[in-house]
Amino acid sequence: MNLVMLGPPGAGKGTQAALLAEKLGIPHVASGDLFREALKEQTELGLTAQSYMDRGELVPDEVTIAMVEERLARSDCDGGVILDGFPRTIEQAGALKGLLHDQEKVIDAAIFIDAAEDELVRRLSSRWTCRNCQAIYNVISNPPRVEGRCDICGGELYQRADDVPETVRNRILVYRQQTSPLIDYYRDEGLLVTIKSEGGIERVQQKILEALQIT
Ligand code: AP5
Ligand code: MG
Ligand code: ZN
Repeated sequence: MNLVMLGPPGAGKGTQAALLAEKLGIPHVASGDLFREALKEQTELGLTAQSYMDRGELVPDEVTIAMVEERLARSDCDGGVILDGFPRTIEQAGALKGLLHDQEKVIDAAIFIDAAEDELVRRLSSRWTCRNCQAIYNVISNPPRVEGRCDICGGELYQRADDVPETVRNRILVYRQQTSPLIDYYRDEGLLVTIKSEGGIERVQQKILEALQIT
């Protein structure tokens, strides 16, 4: 199964993608995580991406598409993948379609998770992320067992530099302008599944599994 997670910053794409990946036994490929890994390693890709990420702007399509293409070419993606944060522009969506087509694959569904803007800002200002494995926590809705430590790997939790209020506002704006057209794009392709992100993480997961008829 090849799935795309779509939605504004803070909607819960990463949270739900990780749960789905575990359930389906396929990789969770998050473009933002790939950029943050590259930055941690101080590669040229990471340093290029940083200047855009810090401002809440999109990294240019060319760079992003090449990075994701390389990741999707690895053999662990042969049996399917959960894409999170990619595609984010119409151009990226077209590139993805072509890429999968060349491998005789298709997208099975685009899961659009939505939430009100004040809720997005609230979630992002209380999000903590594992520096080591990128697992996602929330001090209000999903706290780690031990404060400041990842439940999965024991890594240190930190607040993402782009989760400060000014950058969050710009990310939401950029989402509206450049990414939200993908809602109509995937609706036209007959692939859109809309999920309201109310009711907590587990309830949202249940709604997604029901919509995809996964038992
Ligand atoms: P990226 O890392 O993709 O960030 P984003 O899209 O802004 O989305 P977030 O990761 O902030 O939100 P999410 O939906 O994953 O929410 P989460 O599950 O964490 O991108 C970062 C940057 O990288 C971009 O700005 C850009 O510069 C660059 N980039 C990445 N991809 C790109 C691309 N394709 N093209 C160009 N540039 C690209 O949840 C948020 C919080 O809420 C967590 O604390 C979580 O615990 C909590 N939560 C989740 N669900 C619920 C719920 N149902 N109820 C209560 N709390 C919840
Ligand atoms: Mg995310
Ligand atoms: Zn961790």
